[in-house]
Amino acid sequence: PEAITVQELANRMAEKGADLVKALFNMGMMVTVNQTIDQDTAELLVEEFGHNIERVSSSDVDINVDSDVDAPETLKPRAPVVTIMGHVDHGKTSLLDALRGTDVVRGEAGGITQHMGAYQIKTKGGDKITFLDTPGHAAFTQMRMRGANVTDIVILVVAADDGIMPQTIEAINHTKAAGVPMIVAINKCDKEEANAQKVRERLLEHEVIVEAMSGDVQDVEVSAKTGKGLDELIEKLLLQAEFMELKANPDRNAVGTVIEAKLDKGKGPVATVLVNRGTLKRGDIFVVGTESGRVRAMNDDKGKQVKEAGPSMPIEVLGLGGVPMAGDVLTVVESEQRAREVSSWRQEQATAKRTATAPASLDTMFSALK
Ligand code: GTP
Ligand code: MG
Repeated sequence: PEAITVQELANRMAEKGADLVKALFNMGMMVTVNQTIDQDTAELLVEEFGHNIERVSSSDVDINVDSDVDAPETLKPRAPVVTIMGHVDHGKTSLLDALRGTDVVRGEAGGITQHMGAYQIKTKGGDKITFLDTPGHAAFTQMRMRGANVTDIVILVVAADDGIMPQTIEAINHTKAAGVPMIVAINKCDKEEANAQKVRERLLEHEVIVEAMSGDVQDVEVSAKTGKGLDELIEKLLLQAEFMELKANPDRNAVGTVIEAKLDKGKGPVATVLVNRGTLKRGDIFVVGTESGRVRAMNDDKGKQVKEAGPSMPIEVLGLGGVPMAGDVLTVVESEQRAREVSSWRQEQATAKRTATAPASLDTMFSALK
């Protein structure tokens, strides 16, 4: 049976904790506000105070995004979300810079991407493509795995001078596990020591068979430095996206995924969110992981303020109650009360989980010492 502390119950009933303690005393129970009572006692107490009883379970309180399916006629085409993966220094960020016409690499500490940037570009033909740039460090494997889940297509960047490296193989495995189509960008083809054919051959060992080797994985020789092959890469991306018929309903409350989040000194908690469906608008009330908030402002990837963001658009969201985790789902809800209800339920669940698992980890610690 589920238990609740006296104080929590008091909060939910909007009564004073001390009054509940008094009522419990009159019922013959000596408890303090921090002690837990069982569900039957809680129900008695709620009746005593003249409130209605609502037994809540996760299905009433929480939001289940997966069960909330959009009708086919509401779906409209959306931009593909493309994640760029590959070994450290193989040129992921440079390639993205070249595609966007920016210079992020030079602004990075030590030229190493520490977080997952999210950008949207508009091609010459007017098509939009959303890119996620993932870090090349092994320590960020977890984040990369998350990246693959919001991703429609993966660009595997392999430096033609360096070839297949450990994180290239990792990226191949993640992509296969996620069941996402892959396009291989053989980068740094401007270099003298570049050997694109060797890359294609070595890929065979990892069951990635590119078109040139009679397989069905598209590959392109590129150079982020000279711009070689970039148009072809875009063309192949769009072709793949077209084939996938990517769609989402833009005319509903937004659902999005946190790509990265941090506490900004000036702005407070800030999250980069990729909108999956619906349209996120300024003023929207939302729940994200165990946090809630209201969209105070939204910025696009160029730092420009926007009033709303539709499917596949990455935006920076301000107005969060706390810092969510990468991979958390953001859902817009109808009221602040609902947002508080869901987030406090989730916080309780998270706390309960932590307390429940603490003894177990202690056990393993002790058994490890034996
Ligand atoms: P991490 O974020 O650390 O994983 O690296 P990355 O994959 O984003 O690589 P990045 O774009 O930072 O590039 C690494 C180095 O390779 C930089 O010094 C780039 O200037 C260089 N580089 C990237 N692309 C090319 C290219 O096409 N040709 C040449 N010659 N150098 C390149
Ligand atoms: Mg990088």
